[in-house]
Amino acid sequence: MMSRLMNWIDERLPISNTLKLHVTQYPAPKNFNFWYIMGSLALIVLVNQIVTGIWLTMSYNPSAEGAFASIEYIMRDVEYGWLLRYMHSTGASAFFVVVYLHMFRGLMYGSYQKPRELLWIFGMLIFLVLMAEAFMGYLLPWGQMSFWGAQVIISLFGAIPIIGDDLTTWIRGDYVISGATLNRFFALHVIALPLVLVILVFLHLIALHEVGSNNPDGVDNKKPKGSVPDDEKPPFEFHERYTSKKDIVDAIPFHPYYTVKDLVGLAVFLIFFALVIFYAPTMGGFFLEPPNFQAADPMRTPEHIAPVWYFTPFYAILRAVPDKLGGVILMFLAIVMLFLMPWFDRGRARSVRYRSGLHKANLTVFAISFVFLGYLGAMPATDLYTILARIFTFLYFAFFIFLWFYSKNERIKPLPERLTK
Ligand code: HEM
Repeated sequence: MMSRLMNWIDERLPISNTLKLHVTQYPAPKNFNFWYIMGSLALIVLVNQIVTGIWLTMSYNPSAEGAFASIEYIMRDVEYGWLLRYMHSTGASAFFVVVYLHMFRGLMYGSYQKPRELLWIFGMLIFLVLMAEAFMGYLLPWGQMSFWGAQVIISLFGAIPIIGDDLTTWIRGDYVISGATLNRFFALHVIALPLVLVILVFLHLIALHEVGSNNPDGVDNKKPKGSVPDDEKPPFEFHERYTSKKDIVDAIPFHPYYTVKDLVGLAVFLIFFALVIFYAPTMGGFFLEPPNFQAADPMRTPEHIAPVWYFTPFYAILRAVPDKLGGVILMFLAIVMLFLMPWFDRGRARSVRYRSGLHKANLTVFAISFVFLGYLGAMPATDLYTILARIFTFLYFAFFIFLWFYSKNERIKPLPERLTK
């Protein structure tokens, strides 16, 4: 009965074939490690954000008069409203934890290199949209930090010559941040940007499956057709899309091997996620900042305005430059550099495992600089912190420039013929 129903559907909509192509018979390299769990975790967090977001919207009031009170109402009176809200706010931070680790994995294993440039660009577009999505979501509770944080960030556009002032008015929909701003941020946050995000994630995955996954060794698991003896081919059935043009080696089907492995990762993730939700939902002010428990007051500026932790590395770069326009340009450049990673890196090896000591050091310094910039962006801009922020900003950009110079003639270790375990 079931198989007849499935046949009936398959003749009209290619469900079974699509599942085989993208899940059950996708040849995934056999050596995926911890870092490869982050992609599926990001997918799950995305679903969590959409589902909890829909339920929050049912009780949220998107108006300057009612927004703050409606959040209090959700927290106190709506059945499990507190859980929905904390799942959503913790989910926002979890999203960035997972995505930053996911991006770092890409940097470590050279997953942005040919032929995965477009996959990387889609990833970076996702990152940009995610930042816009988080920024707009943060205005919605209409707390002190929502208001003043948005004030700082929107005013940055005012630094752009000639059109700056008009542009900020256009973004706000008013001469000051007001209910009009809240309304449009709400529209963008609940429908426009999530839609773009879902479309981009879809394209990200289609691009991934077109070129195939990279892996911790950074060497291909596809060989020219006819070059692999039959007894070396994996004893699994893969979708013919993957095997018709190339021979596949050292691969295992995504299901059940990685569905099960990802489930283990999910269980560990959920333990931490639940711990935060139930025991530390504000995460000491890092996930939800204390001033945001007070309603927005345009007449009273909080003592210390800092964005949420996931923006602080870029905020530190912004503040490291004395000139406002210069700071804005450098902050955008910090993201543009990441977009251009496939072209800064001219190396012959993908994975850090087979690259020079210089590259390992460069990547380590980059990661440390990013973390320190994150710390400095959350701190008040004292003289010492500003100097440190300048040093780490220099190191952040130096990573890309150095890479361009040394990668062309870099001395690499011999690449393995086949994937190691
Ligand atoms: C909503 C956010 C995102 C989701 C849901 C997502 C999802 C995924 C999934 C499911 C995979 C395959 C599993 C894996 O390799 O981990 C993947 C691979 C990949 N993603 Fe993402 N991704 C997201 C954001 C990003 C960002 C921001 C970047 C970088 C700019 C990025 C770059 C990559 C790359 C390069 C790969 C291939 C990695 C490899 O094969 O070694 N992704 N992504």
